[in-house]
Amino acid sequence: MDVETLRELARRLALEAGALVREQSPERVVVAATKSSEVDPVTAMDRASEELLRARIAAERPDDAILGEEGDDVPGTSGLTWVLDPIDGTVNYLYGVASFAVSVAVVAGPPDPARWTALAGCVHSVVDGRTWTAASGGGAERDGRPVRAGSPASLATSLVGTGFGYSPARRAGQARVLTQVLPRVRDIRRLGAAAIDLCLVGEGALDLYYERGLNPWDLAAGALVATEAGAVVTGLRGAPAGTAMTVAGPAPVQGDLVRLLEDAGADTVEETFTD
Ligand code: IPD
Ligand code: CA
Repeated sequence: MDVETLRELARRLALEAGALVREQSPERVVVAATKSSEVDPVTAMDRASEELLRARIAAERPDDAILGEEGDDVPGTSGLTWVLDPIDGTVNYLYGVASFAVSVAVVAGPPDPARWTALAGCVHSVVDGRTWTAASGGGAERDGRPVRAGSPASLATSLVGTGFGYSPARRAGQARVLTQVLPRVRDIRRLGAAAIDLCLVGEGALDLYYERGLNPWDLAAGALVATEAGAVVTGLRGAPAGTAMTVAGPAPVQGDLVRLLEDAGADTVEETFTD
């Protein structure tokens, strides 16, 4: 199957799950359970959206593997893995903040962002319908039109997105890194959905984005959109983007942010935190 066909399938799946989230959500969304910490929620709709995606993939691509945020890994035989975030930005969804997305990507190789090759992906912003897609070597689009990353003049004049993890110790470390970054950039945005942040880099609505602690499903589709839009997406100290660190943006300013984060120890910093 060629990457454009996979792109179209990713788009169709993300749109269908997005319609479910939009149309079937209760008036007041409630927490169904918590995951890594008491501030890391899962809702009934996170589960329903992922079940829908899994059912469609099982029917249409039965030989592919599945890696999804809310369920067990499904092994496959084709060498392709679907990487699913049924709602990226669950806290926004819970509070009715209109920035959350369904993220669907398909990758070749091991289900690890440091080693996989992303083939195609789609990030569908559920409330306003913005839909970014990308195919490896085939460019990135929003709503069918090509997008390009921006060309910020300097790090000092760059608008930088970031996000925070769910554990107090991780957050204390991220707050310390932020004290090094904030004085050196135009401003910071914490919009609450990593997949959308990466797509915004891909269309120049954010100049740069960085975050420590992303899961594979947070970044799989969005990183491909950013890359195909001309941005560079890496980790620190020559490492690929992944859980330790993801930094996205156009060169050479992306490199300037990488160096600033390296100097701040942003890929290792962890605080002990006690109330
Ligand atoms: C989270 C969002 C958030 C980011 C967190 C992610 P979730 O994903 O992308 O912006 O800062 O690191 O875990 O939990 O809403 O799927
Ligand atoms: Ca999620």
